[in-house]
Amino acid sequence: VTINRLDYQPTDWLIDHVSLQFELDPTATLVTSELTLSRNPAAGQESNGPGPGLTLQGSDCELRSVSLDGVKLAPEDYQLSATELHIAQLPEHCVLVIVTCINPESNTALEGLYRSSGNFCTQCEAEGFRKITYYLDRPDVLSVFDVTITADVATCPVMLANGNRVSHEVLEGGRHRVQWHDPHPKPSYLFALVAGDLAHIEDHFTTASGRKVLLQIYVEAHNIDRCDFAMSSLKASMRWDEEVYGLEYDLDCFMIVAVDDFNMGAMENKGLNVFNSRFVLADAQSATDTDYMGVEAVIAHEYFHNWTGNRITCRDWFQLSLKEGLTVFRDQSFSSDRHSATVKRIEDVRLLRARQFAEDSGPMAHPIRPDSYIEINNFYTLTVYEKGAEVIRMLHTLLGPVKWRQAMDVYVERHDGTATTCDAFVDAMQTVADVDLTQFRRWYSTAGTPEVRVSEEYDSQNARFHLTLSQSCPDTPGQSDKLPLHIPVVMGLLDQQGNSLSLSNGRALAAAVDSSQTDAQRGVLLDLTEASQTFTFEGVDAAPVVSLLRGFSAPVKLVHDVTDETLAFLMANDPDTFNRWEAGQRLATRLILGVLQEGRINADTLASLGQAWGLILADDSLDMAFKAEALSLPTIDTLEGSLEQVDYQALIAAHAMVSTALAEKHAEALCVLVTETRQAGVALLDPAAMSGRKLANTALALLTWLPESLWGPLAAAQYAAADNMTDRIAALAALCHGDSAARQDCLDDFHAKAIGNRLVMDKWFAVQATSRRSSIVEDVAALLQHADFEAGNPNRLRSLVASFALNNPGGFHAANGQGYRFLADQVIALDSRNPQVAARLVSPLGHWKRLAGPARDLMRQELVRIRDSGPLSPDVFELVSKALQ
Ligand code: ARG
Ligand code: ZN
Repeated sequence: VTINRLDYQPTDWLIDHVSLQFELDPTATLVTSELTLSRNPAAGQESNGPGPGLTLQGSDCELRSVSLDGVKLAPEDYQLSATELHIAQLPEHCVLVIVTCINPESNTALEGLYRSSGNFCTQCEAEGFRKITYYLDRPDVLSVFDVTITADVATCPVMLANGNRVSHEVLEGGRHRVQWHDPHPKPSYLFALVAGDLAHIEDHFTTASGRKVLLQIYVEAHNIDRCDFAMSSLKASMRWDEEVYGLEYDLDCFMIVAVDDFNMGAMENKGLNVFNSRFVLADAQSATDTDYMGVEAVIAHEYFHNWTGNRITCRDWFQLSLKEGLTVFRDQSFSSDRHSATVKRIEDVRLLRARQFAEDSGPMAHPIRPDSYIEINNFYTLTVYEKGAEVIRMLHTLLGPVKWRQAMDVYVERHDGTATTCDAFVDAMQTVADVDLTQFRRWYSTAGTPEVRVSEEYDSQNARFHLTLSQSCPDTPGQSDKLPLHIPVVMGLLDQQGNSLSLSNGRALAAAVDSSQTDAQRGVLLDLTEASQTFTFEGVDAAPVVSLLRGFSAPVKLVHDVTDETLAFLMANDPDTFNRWEAGQRLATRLILGVLQEGRINADTLASLGQAWGLILADDSLDMAFKAEALSLPTIDTLEGSLEQVDYQALIAAHAMVSTALAEKHAEALCVLVTETRQAGVALLDPAAMSGRKLANTALALLTWLPESLWGPLAAAQYAAADNMTDRIAALAALCHGDSAARQDCLDDFHAKAIGNRLVMDKWFAVQATSRRSSIVEDVAALLQHADFEAGNPNRLRSLVASFALNNPGGFHAANGQGYRFLADQVIALDSRNPQVAARLVSPLGHWKRLAGPARDLMRQELVRIRDSGPLSPDVFELVSKALQ
């Protein structure tokens, strides 16, 4: 069934209060739900006649009884289907009591109430609450929840729900009972319950206005020493939201629970965040620097949802980006404030280009506010999240930081306590903005990645420089002939000596982030709103060099034909460090795509890039993490974005050829970096230490393109000496590309040490799944049979199957189609068990139309095979049928 955005109707009924009672049992949990209902005054009123009936959503729960105002209903008083409970007649105000029985143990889809490591937990977003009880399971029905949990003291000493704990009593027969009250009205998707044998750490946070909040992190007892970093991240997030947005926490306690079986990253349930344990647990022996940054970012993300998501929620699921795009933007800003802003921006842009651009050019292309869906879980996408965050970032750029904050205040003031829309968000921005945002709103309804073509003309006679920008956006399923967007283009002009020119056109950029820069260095903001627009700059004495789209000011593809020298010049001189990196990426892209066209490396371009690398390496004013980014070539999935038809085998070969050439050119310097960049005697998370590791390990990864005799001993030595996971796994990853005795020894050693730590065991699978060995498809198939492989655990499954399909292009696109067949087999095997996770594995197969040669048909055949494999979940059905259309 397709749901359409424009069909939105408010409900006929409101739930003013809900009281839930859980009698927990692994296979037969009884849920009693008491709903205090009233007719919705905002609903379309039919005059006279009987009032509207009530339809509640519910599935996979066994209905035991329904009573209305104390009277038990007979089966003929209601209608029950596999997904709904309908009651035709109810008084305007009434109390409905529904008893259901559910089986958490058999819940392998991990939505609703399920068991993880023997503990009870819930995941209700988007539509999991209906697997617990019959309800108006949609985000615009806000209600006050009271929750009572009864369970065995022995197996469930801990029983948690949203809000504040109001009572605890010990019962007969080894049972006990707690009661929780959440004063903030919320939709059902924010409900949570956790019960089991959990240990916790605790701390306190005093809010700006002096409220003392109890902070707790719950984990299985054996993980209790791995929670400290998450706790300090939480406190930092709480402080940041007060300082940057003036937003304080609003309950007496804030709890985080880590579970091993979780479909996504984490969930912002009010006062009781439930996390995939990989975004909570971290210690020096088990977590890489990237893992630490991931924990910090996800803790922040879920915490920030308390305002942007929970207190102000979505009217309907088409508005998902209202909370997700905004909250991703907020967590990105938080990370950027705490670490290198440029490096954070580079990482975010890499992800966007590699994965969101691919989504935008495939069968699932959709606007950040989609118009229709079959299964909402399929729309928790890079587009809604990451492109959504880019749209928020553009608003931030258009308003400037001061007005942005004022507009956010208006948004919070207007919509606190309500379920609202993306349009209402832009309305709030418009109350403060100087610019008219009417055209900007098209970003919410336009799918696809816009392209901006650039041409330059220098008029020496009049000392004028003309810059022409032309935009277009490719057709996407269901959308063609798109209207121009309002694209904020941050840019600057440099003279031939690298000095920034003062510009006579464009808007000044409000209050600089980097206050050491002059206005000229910062550049200006151009509002590109027409299909084609020429901007003229006066008083330009010589042909300038243009630096466009600084900081990646809009999520577009820039097509700008400049010389290798210009790119090398920008790499060395652009005051915008993001664009220095970008120039290097463009040069590298040109080199790799050149191999595809000419069958060989262009020696001049290689020389330019090689030299530019040399300059970057020698520049001591640059952060080592930035250098690492500058030495990292664009990945295959990013390069793919600049091709119409992709021959993966050829692209991978070209990428390898260029990587090898660059590694050869700098082999000596790279070896020095591997051995000499690490800082001894500093704290693990010291910024310089992290940057040093990043640079050293980037250098090692580059060296693996050369004969193993050159780097193998370095990698083996690094593995043996490593006192942290970042260096250990980087060394192992390098060794995994080869076939040395050290490879097997280190894998065995790593495996032995991983026993008892699931997250480390995940790494053992992932590092093998991303190897460039020619036997990779057989290797991965063999790992499926390994005693430690668990198909039922999403993290383990992703560490093997998704790592292979997404991060191993050479293996996945194997010429004989084996990689595609392998993935399709996994989707088919998983769909009946966990549709959400199965559906996530379909997307790498969705791009067959863009493939060249026999690969195209090989990939398509696998989609057909999934389609014909039997009854599919709506999740997998939607993706497969859209891909085959
Ligand atoms: N709201 C969560 C987050 O981004 C994501 C949970 C989505 N889960 C799902 N099954 N669709 O923080
Ligand atoms: Zn989120």
